[in-house]
Amino acid sequence: MNVLRFSDLCDQGLARGRRVFIRADLNVPQDDAGAITEDTRIRASVPCIQLALAGGAAVMVTSHLGRPTEGAFKPQDSLAPVARRLAELLGRPVALKSDWVDGVDVQPGEVVLLENCRLNKGEKKNDPALAQKMAALCDIFVHDAFGTAHRAEASTYGIAQYAKAACAGPLLAAEIDAITKALANPKRPLVAIVAGSKVSTKLSILEALARNVDQLIVGGGIANTFLLAAGLPIGKSLAEADRVGQAKAVIAAMQARGAGVPIPTDVVVAKTFAADAIATVKAAADVADDDLILDIGPQTAATLAAQLKAAGTIVWNGPVGVFEFDAFGHGTETIARAIAESDAFSIAGGGDTLAAIAKYGIEDDIGYISTGGGAFLEVLEGKTLPAFEILQQRAQG
Ligand code: 3PG
Repeated sequence: MNVLRFSDLCDQGLARGRRVFIRADLNVPQDDAGAITEDTRIRASVPCIQLALAGGAAVMVTSHLGRPTEGAFKPQDSLAPVARRLAELLGRPVALKSDWVDGVDVQPGEVVLLENCRLNKGEKKNDPALAQKMAALCDIFVHDAFGTAHRAEASTYGIAQYAKAACAGPLLAAEIDAITKALANPKRPLVAIVAGSKVSTKLSILEALARNVDQLIVGGGIANTFLLAAGLPIGKSLAEADRVGQAKAVIAAMQARGAGVPIPTDVVVAKTFAADAIATVKAAADVADDDLILDIGPQTAATLAAQLKAAGTIVWNGPVGVFEFDAFGHGTETIARAIAESDAFSIAGGGDTLAAIAKYGIEDDIGYISTGGGAFLEVLEGKTLPAFEILQQRAQG
């Protein structure tokens, strides 16, 4: 993907003495008291800030936090906890600036955090007047917010249109590179795992991947709908009977390309949805009317693990069972360990997937872990994200 990279500008000394505006995604989860419960996105944003500081720039960073009402500040919308964590990680003070759109006082070698950008009126609708004001604050706009790359807002898109220079930060660039390696230029066989509760929410992803991947492994409620499509019983499991036609179409599209959607041959069932429910392994054909399918069975997991170990590239979105309950986590664990042991380049994304990766401690064995939630899903759908589109446009002009 042809975009200008901030690291290249810094290498050429072009950030020295310049005002650099970094749009990061520091939208992190917090508890009721406002304490940050998970700081991956803040840590992932640090290299870009360090690059800018090392390059001699005056550094402004902003992000959204949640979905506040524009123009109506509430204390819980503040980036103050993020500023504190960022200061700890950078080992230097990070002042938080409010009402910053009309001017920011920052000197080369300093970093300031600009208060929640979604508090500015016109942010969500990408108001050109707001975007122009933001662009006027800087010499170089750096988009480093992959988690927000699917949004065209004033601080992500409009500013990139109007800023003197617009480029990709190291996090955004790493995500672009990993996505290109996995989906545009994959080493084959390319195996995708798409799991989740509903076919309907991931149908466009399944359809897009069915045009590209060699094996499409489905899991969770999605797999149940595919079991129905294959004429197998699912008892009272979560599924969407009205989506069976679309599941059949995905299977047919894959078969027409000589590719496959592996249907589970065995499953783990329970009579109730509970952590202490009794887990029973059954052949997929033997699921009873009062059974709930909560995981894939050991035979299916072993077959899938072998496919994953032989893969050239793996794209992983979603656990294949209710892995939060240990008795129903063996399928997800087997898959996770197979991905970790595989020589394939792997890319994983999505909240539940990241939780499974953390639970089984395989972070270091995944090729790339995306910081994107919705943005990662839109990439899997085959969409060109607004961030990529505008940065490519700017690189050409
Ligand atoms: C996310 O958490 O997925 C990103 O920060 C985007 O947030 P949004 O869905 O509120 O735009």
